[in-house]
Amino acid sequence: MDLSRVRVLIDEDALRARIQDLGAEIRAEYGDAPVTAIAVLKGSFMFMADLVRAIGGEVRCEFLGVSSYHGGTRSTGVVRITQDLKHPIEGQHCLIVEDIVDTGLTMDYLLRLLQVRKPRSLKIVTLLDKPTNREVDVDVDFVGFTIPDEFVVGYGLDLGEVYRNLPYIAVYTP
Ligand code: IMP
Repeated sequence: MDLSRVRVLIDEDALRARIQDLGAEIRAEYGDAPVTAIAVLKGSFMFMADLVRAIGGEVRCEFLGVSSYHGGTRSTGVVRITQDLKHPIEGQHCLIVEDIVDTGLTMDYLLRLLQVRKPRSLKIVTLLDKPTNREVDVDVDFVGFTIPDEFVVGYGLDLGEVYRNLPYIAVYTP
């Protein structure tokens, strides 16, 4: 890990404050209803942990293993499911919890994968949105931060499996 290559973009205080607000927004959307939060692994594990606490009420946690990058900094568009959900989601209010939406290819694939399982509703929350690179239109319901087209690491996001444990979001400069 080379910290001279990273520059803080969103610090811990800003993350904490925004995630609290997102949680309240999401809870208000569902009222008292139970919500099934589906974390897209590995990138969203840290966001998931903070977000479900901020949502409060009855939240079930599911984890979906997805691999859409193969070590580089560009999306390949190839999505591989590395771990499926452990329970059916039919009839449930489901919320996909993603770290970042970039081209939208991963989210487009996941929406189609999960929609056929007949959830009662299916919404998306992403911590980060990089809209400049969008290749497919995806309707993201809740966005933490909109960021410019730069490669970011930290708070779950990696570059070749490194930098995930940084407590902030940072821009990586090769
Ligand atoms: P998309 O399919 O291009 O929208 O990319 C979605 C996935 O690519 C995310 O879930 C991340 O795993 C990864 N990704 C996209 N941009 C970045 C970035 O700036 N840093 C780290 N991972 C990224």
